[in-house]
Amino acid sequence: MCGIVGVIGQRDAAPLLLDALKRLEYRGYDSAGIATVNGEGAMARLRSPGKLRNLEKRLDVVPLPGGTGIGHTRWATHGAPTEANAHPHLAAPVAVVHNGIIENFRELRAKLKAAGATLTSDTDTETIAHLMAHRLASGEEMKAALLGTLGELEGAYALAFAFEGQPQLLAAARSGSPLAIGLADDSVMIGSDAIALAPFCDRIIYLDDGDIALLTPSKVEIFDKTGAPVDRPAVAVPVQISLAEKGNYRHFMAKEIHEQPEVIARTIGHYLDIGEGTIRDSAVGLDFADYRRVSITACGTAFYAGLVARHWFEQIARLPVDLDVASEFRYRAQNFPRDELALFVSQSGETADTLASLRVCRAAGQTIATVVNVPTSTMARETDVALPTLAGPEIGVASTKAFTCQLATLAALAVKAGIDRGTVSAEEARAYVDALVEAPRLVADTLHVEPQLERIARIVAPATTALFMGRGASYPVALEGALKLKELSYIHAEGYAAGELKHGPIALVDDSVPVVVVAPFDDLFAKTVSNMQEVAARGGRIIGVTDARGAEAMAGTAEEIIVVPDAPAFIHPLVMTIPLQLLAYHAAITNGTDVDQPRNLAKSVTVE
Ligand code: G6P
Repeated sequence: MCGIVGVIGQRDAAPLLLDALKRLEYRGYDSAGIATVNGEGAMARLRSPGKLRNLEKRLDVVPLPGGTGIGHTRWATHGAPTEANAHPHLAAPVAVVHNGIIENFRELRAKLKAAGATLTSDTDTETIAHLMAHRLASGEEMKAALLGTLGELEGAYALAFAFEGQPQLLAAARSGSPLAIGLADDSVMIGSDAIALAPFCDRIIYLDDGDIALLTPSKVEIFDKTGAPVDRPAVAVPVQISLAEKGNYRHFMAKEIHEQPEVIARTIGHYLDIGEGTIRDSAVGLDFADYRRVSITACGTAFYAGLVARHWFEQIARLPVDLDVASEFRYRAQNFPRDELALFVSQSGETADTLASLRVCRAAGQTIATVVNVPTSTMARETDVALPTLAGPEIGVASTKAFTCQLATLAALAVKAGIDRGTVSAEEARAYVDALVEAPRLVADTLHVEPQLERIARIVAPATTALFMGRGASYPVALEGALKLKELSYIHAEGYAAGELKHGPIALVDDSVPVVVVAPFDDLFAKTVSNMQEVAARGGRIIGVTDARGAEAMAGTAEEIIVVPDAPAFIHPLVMTIPLQLLAYHAAITNGTDVDQPRNLAKSVTVE
């Protein structure tokens, strides 16, 4: 989603802004722009549709002078990704960049037009520049003009402003979308997240919702939404973030897939007391005996992690689970009982729909727990209980290691719930813990199937449709496999509960359709194999993902069989996910798509 950067200080702003924007590329975007103010106060701007390299080429020809500036990568919401719609937007003397959506922009545009303003884009953002310029022109002080402008906006925003004639000033504001200030010896910066700022700054201030900030090269003043000065702590740049590099890998996604044994081990190590064969109470901070049910809310891949967790909570702890995608959650008629735990799952901790759902549950008085990967995120701060996934920064837009770390965390929670609710004996708890301890090794062993997947990906890549199916906990794994394939390789892919295939999607099956069957040798294996036979009978090209025992039963029917190591049934979802990630990755490479930044997608979806 849109990325914001800003800088004020001793360095040449434009190259620095470009560099910082490159670090935000992972969020997904389709146009970019920069505006700078030179020492005399003159403002200049360059914008370009498409990737940052287009903007970079223009900057080579027309360098933007000055030590003060703002930059932006735009993920189009209002209006196509054209130069005219790219940020920064100007209304002299104001330049603004924006992440979020201004919901009352139609009214604001109409009002501005009626007052004689000329709007040159289709965006909601341009209205902000005009509102601000109008207030400054009528003599309002900077802070009052900012607060007044923000008071007119409905919706979510992170904003950075630069001002013609004021080379020593930048302004920033946030409400609903994240924004941070970076501090270095010779400059002050603004960034959507710490990843953009880490290489250039040593300390970071995370703005709270409603904050505004006025920045000079040597000073940062922060005010809350009433205009009262507030102190926000400056924290050291997290070491992990400064390490967010590709290393020897061709793509961040490849690196992140291969990091999984290590990060799953780290996550598990946080939650498990391996010696005692139990889950650390102190790491979870919840007693599941207090709850009659759990509601899990999330988006995208995190939602599929929730779907796996539902199996675990219900099977292990006999704890009923309600599950919703966050964009629908708020629109169901619900009564939010106090004895229901509201559990959210989010890599970024910033996804707008998940955050809004969290706030609804909080307002209703429920206990909020959040499985979250970014410890400084809004959700991590607004939750009662933060349950970290220790995956480290995930840069590839398509989630891989964050998903398996979410699974590891949720698995530990389900075992804890079983212990708390008395559905799991000490011996059983130890067996679950032992199984989880095996996960990093088994995931590492599974990664050895990569050469086979590379070959199979070449078979799958030309297909226009692919189906994925599984039963039980393998059903969400199939859904996640289909999501990965479609987002990375642009092949239409659908995940289905194996038993549902004949209720519709089997109509799609012919000899051009790869059908990926996720079926470890478990209690449901025989039933899934029957569904596989139905597909094979109609010419579907079966790719089986199973273990050694399953492979025997699939032989003869499946065109390809990917054999994963034998694993305890409890951790099958963690193991079975790996081949599907590799399949999507190599299909994307074969199809020549942009692996780390697939078209139209954003890493952190900060609009509803
Ligand atoms: C976007 C990302 C997905 C992610 C989803 C939820 O769609 O591209 O990878 O699963 O948002 O994001 P979250 O940060 O809340 O887990």
